[in-house]
Amino acid sequence: MASTLVTGISQLVTCDGEPDDPLGLLRDAAVIAEDGVITWIGPAARAPEADGAIDVEGRCVLPGFVDSHSHLIFAGDRASEFAARMTGTPYDGGGIATTVAATRAASDDELRALLHQRLTAARALGSHTIEIKSGYGLETETEARLLRLAREVTEETTYLGAHVVPSGSDRRDYLDLVTGEMLAACAPHARFVDVFCEPHSPHAFTGEESEEVLRAGIGAGLTPRLHGNQLGYGPGIQLACEMQAASVDHCTFISDADLSALADSRDTTVATLLPGVEFSTRQPYPDARRLLDAGVSVALASDCNPGTCYSSSMPLMIQLAVREMGMTVAEALLAATRGGAAALRRGNIGSITLGAKAHLNVLDAPHYEHLAYQIGVPLVSPITTIEGVNA
Ligand code: NIG
Ligand code: FE
Repeated sequence: MASTLVTGISQLVTCDGEPDDPLGLLRDAAVIAEDGVITWIGPAARAPEADGAIDVEGRCVLPGFVDSHSHLIFAGDRASEFAARMTGTPYDGGGIATTVAATRAASDDELRALLHQRLTAARALGSHTIEIKSGYGLETETEARLLRLAREVTEETTYLGAHVVPSGSDRRDYLDLVTGEMLAACAPHARFVDVFCEPHSPHAFTGEESEEVLRAGIGAGLTPRLHGNQLGYGPGIQLACEMQAASVDHCTFISDADLSALADSRDTTVATLLPGVEFSTRQPYPDARRLLDAGVSVALASDCNPGTCYSSSMPLMIQLAVREMGMTVAEALLAATRGGAAALRRGNIGSITLGAKAHLNVLDAPHYEHLAYQIGVPLVSPITTIEGVNA
């Protein structure tokens, strides 16, 4: 057993506070981790001895970010689609086919190399836990391959065979495949099942189709979540709440009925907001203030993918949420840590608390507000020298 003492912390942001101080801010605190788990938090002056020490020299310490929504495993890129969108072409999911072709053609080692490159970038920006979806295979062998490769780097894997209906396929036949043979091949490598529920895209799935996909996934032992209400109003949010999904992601268009369903489901279903998507597709941002004021449980995630947001930067998502979505810095930071943990139904990540994983970030500033204040400046870095830390 190796223990590490973290000292020199100007402000410890535990994300484990009370309603009057949800960030649980502590001054001059120290933290001890043993075998990668937090075993002591208290005043630095009273810290017990440890085997090793890390001095952060007056910086702020935050929980590792929990990026609960990414599509990090794919080949190729869609830079020209992005460029066209910036001059007015709307997003409708049609470009997914381009990524599917490139991904099917890539070898395991090529996909591994691309995944590692993206993971390294995400981790350097403070993401300690990253959920990864399939969805660029859309045939049994490639979907299972994507999940198997994603499983090599994270426990948080999601089966998204129902991303779109592949071009040339019959909808009914494809749904049978996604809920039958493909599900059977993918379920052993996945924790969650997801579907792109979007009546506004001709490529994605209706409410009824989405329900069928999620029910089949649940039957195979997976926890449901879904992409909903991204391109317009639709059935996704209420379906997610009815099915007790872990999260409903995007939530760009929210009706009053959607809002009350989310508020009623605050203990089961998290609304995951993905502001990098609105930034990269020129869509309106979701009204986070309205969700928070109604008591909805909210997470922030990157959605890193080649189509709607090619960024894994959680600090950028926090900055967009504060600047564009009406969240306070504290709310955005909580959504990027505890909120993500709730969306993954994980109790031992997303906060600096006894028994949690020692996933710590250093912010090169004396106060957490600098996270949103110093826009685009690489202030966050993970503490990677604590022994025994893993995802
Ligand atoms: O979460 N909206 C559906 N899926 C992804 C985008 C996929 C793509 O365009 O490649 C998303 O935005
Ligand atoms: Fe997504």
